[in-house]
Amino acid sequence: MEFSIKNGNPEKQRHDCLIVGVFEGRKLSDAAKNLDGTSSKAISAVLKSGDMEGKLGTCLLLHALTSVAANRILLVGLGKQTEFGEKQYRQAVRAAIKALPKGVANAGIFLAELAIKKSDTHSKVAQLVEVAIDATYQVNAIKLKKAEPLALEKIAIFVAKTDSAQAEAGLKHGLAIGAGVSLAKDLGNLPPNICTPTYLGKQAKALAKTYGFKVEVLEKEEIEKLGMGSFLGVAQGSIEPPRFIVLQHLKGDKKQKPTVLVGKGITFDTGGISLKPGADMDEMKYDMCGAASVLGTFKAIGEMDLAINVVGLIATCENMPDAGAIKPGDILTSMAGLTIEVLNTDAEGRLILCDALTYAERFEPSAVVDIATLTGACVIALGHHPSGLFSNKDALAAELLAAGEMAHDRAWHMPLWEEFQTQLDSNFADMANIGGRAGGSITAACFLSRFAKKYDWAHLDIAGTAWKSGKEKGGTGRPVPLLTTFLVNRAAK
Ligand code: BES
Ligand code: MN
Ligand code: ZN
Repeated sequence: MEFSIKNGNPEKQRHDCLIVGVFEGRKLSDAAKNLDGTSSKAISAVLKSGDMEGKLGTCLLLHALTSVAANRILLVGLGKQTEFGEKQYRQAVRAAIKALPKGVANAGIFLAELAIKKSDTHSKVAQLVEVAIDATYQVNAIKLKKAEPLALEKIAIFVAKTDSAQAEAGLKHGLAIGAGVSLAKDLGNLPPNICTPTYLGKQAKALAKTYGFKVEVLEKEEIEKLGMGSFLGVAQGSIEPPRFIVLQHLKGDKKQKPTVLVGKGITFDTGGISLKPGADMDEMKYDMCGAASVLGTFKAIGEMDLAINVVGLIATCENMPDAGAIKPGDILTSMAGLTIEVLNTDAEGRLILCDALTYAERFEPSAVVDIATLTGACVIALGHHPSGLFSNKDALAAELLAAGEMAHDRAWHMPLWEEFQTQLDSNFADMANIGGRAGGSITAACFLSRFAKKYDWAHLDIAGTAWKSGKEKGGTGRPVPLLTTFLVNRAAK
């Protein structure tokens, strides 16, 4: 899909369809008023008929208005004008894009000119583009399912002439985040027989080539040399070889300490010998969505050519039951030298991440953020709207929370109190890999915190946010918007 920024009066625009807003109480937006005037009150007449009140997200399609150049007008409800904010704006944009009929290849949208408190044209255009890309995403981008090609080819975003430069910058920003989100969705949606650790390694190399990142994809022998005994313990149950991916985007000052992103890349989680129940097990192909969000964020900052130093680390393998797999009771020695009693082989995410966190030390990072579909307990605690955020540094947590709010990809700050740590006590090793049912997402974070003592660190548990189940099953691309915004904010400091 192609986006462009345009100026001009709505009645003169020759598009297949123009999208204009109506507030609740049948109150016309400026663009709608304009069209109403040229069409001898055709819009007012339709509203008076009772077909539309302006409720948020409702849509009504009008055809062939007199003296209006465009073939169709799509009215979209904006809700109460006093309540109209970014959230409502995004909802209206999404509803309008989804309501466009099949015959529309070329749409003009007059929503970015609406006044929103604390939002400028840059942000409104960026969000419009992000939402439109999200709403029109097709799984067939990966060519495994034949779907009808998207009818909609072009979207022109109308803004006031004086706002054009801001709008163009917002457009670039939105396209970059949209591309990152789409990549993360694509990778998540791929079947696990295609999206293997080897495949993720290749994707990282392809990204590096496109955007000029430094890249290393370590194979098993090199991972062994590093002493990543915990990561390799998980990998040993599968015939798919593991990979450890190191990506570096070094566009900041030479002396600037990098921000490190660490992704969990379990390309399929059966649970291992502590086998998961069969129902919905296919969804464990999404257990690499942390890794996908790192790659997606790299794509976004690559597109933006963001002036910052960022390192991406991905530990990726399968978690399979096999004659050679780790067993409950096995003790693994991590790269940090700490020993881990594996009481449940299904708590494998922390086992691969702990070694990646130790590896991160060598970059002397300004901050490390890991992203993982880590615990079902996080979904029980927080549901599917926020990602769980844990951190050993309140200032870093605040940065991530703020980025999430800005990006409409929110996280919720969870406790990481000392009191929870004893749940990980083991009689036989330095720690156990599980801490019981109580506070399961917190004890998982506590486990990771033991390997993140040398730097400011945060952990995002995205088990509830990385994909959707049911009829709408599919990757969400979260938390690419949060992470990208976090890095954009850091680059601006
Ligand atoms: N990948 C899962 C977490 C998960 C489960 C995410 C369901 C989304 C939906 C993780 O590896 C896992 O299996 N965690 C266990 C930990 C437990 C054994 C302590 C869990 O959450 O049940
Ligand atoms: Mn598991
Ligand atoms: Zn897992």
